[in-house]
Amino acid sequence: MDRDEELRILDRALAHLHDKRLPLTDADSRVSTDRYQSPDWYRAELDQIFGRLPSMLVHGSELPGPGAFVTMEHFGRPLLVNRDRDGVAHAFLNACRHRGARLEQDPSGVRKHFTCRYHAWRYDTDGSLATIPSAHCFPGVDPAKRGLVALPVVEAYGFVWLMPEAAPGRADLDGFLGSFRHDLADLGLDGFEIYGAESQEWEINWKLVVEGTLEGYHFPFLHTKSANPLFENSTFFFDGFGPHLRSILPKRSINFVERTPREERRLLAVANVIHTIFPNETVLHQSDHFLWITAHPLGPARTLVKLRLIVPRGSVESDGAERWEENRALTYQVQYEDLEIYREIQIGFATGANEEHVLGTQEFALRTFHETVDRHLFGAGPGAQRDGA
Ligand code: FES
Repeated sequence: MDRDEELRILDRALAHLHDKRLPLTDADSRVSTDRYQSPDWYRAELDQIFGRLPSMLVHGSELPGPGAFVTMEHFGRPLLVNRDRDGVAHAFLNACRHRGARLEQDPSGVRKHFTCRYHAWRYDTDGSLATIPSAHCFPGVDPAKRGLVALPVVEAYGFVWLMPEAAPGRADLDGFLGSFRHDLADLGLDGFEIYGAESQEWEINWKLVVEGTLEGYHFPFLHTKSANPLFENSTFFFDGFGPHLRSILPKRSINFVERTPREERRLLAVANVIHTIFPNETVLHQSDHFLWITAHPLGPARTLVKLRLIVPRGSVESDGAERWEENRALTYQVQYEDLEIYREIQIGFATGANEEHVLGTQEFALRTFHETVDRHLFGAGPGAQRDGA
């Protein structure tokens, strides 16, 4: 964000500090609990949202040079994400073009070629078919037409994005991000690297993970001893950028910002800035580094949660991991405190205790998020009202 915007946001943070009852909206609202557990909802989300929007596959540093690769499951498809010998990022179906064996078995590494372990068909890092053992046995196979199946990707804003077939290019990514792309560009994430990646499957709906980053109402209660001492209660606010959200979570240090000359005030010294990239990615800016949270749906009540710190490139090597380890431990502790609650909430759905959840005015960003989900599923219209707000 530019300097004028930073100062405007600081002024808004001070306004929320001085009036803790400053509303984000004027009424509470409702969301149906069906949307967190119904197989029909889930199938509609896969079809209408995840199947049609860009996905952040990896941070660029997870493919650190030519030949580097990562494998993953992505909505039922095995992917091989890599850099070719020129450093260009690709995503391929991780399936041999002979008889379909999984081509690369390892989760990550570096290869000059990919060789299938079944009959040793070999592929170059750009996906082209390089070698067929006993090639004379395949007189009808044109190697030039039998390379790995490539999926459209764009590398931008520090990440490798898997793009929809119908909207495969950089212009499509920028159209999806809209004006939010300027915020992402300003983060300079291509100058950073991943530290301390963890992935766990949880018996929860993916939207619960996103919701947890969209309000500070729970901090004084759930995070009493972990995060709460760092943050100022009842001062969370946010802005929408199309489907994406930028949220501000002021720290206790906001209480002292007025002692600093206006021209010297810095937002990141007194607040975390949370970038919610619709539908399921969160990049949380904490002073000089980031927490990247992915809520990857595996089922209506099953989600792969990925946590990664994104730290200045080279800082682990130059300063030692200890610099980041304490930060990682506290940051992930807060996330696991949240995830335990989500798990209880998911169990609670099945009890039938609530047909709807109530969202207070401090939780207005959740309603905004659900309305965006609804727009993708049902077209224009206020989804929360559909649930009886
Ligand atoms: Fe890969 Fe035969 S299935 S070489």
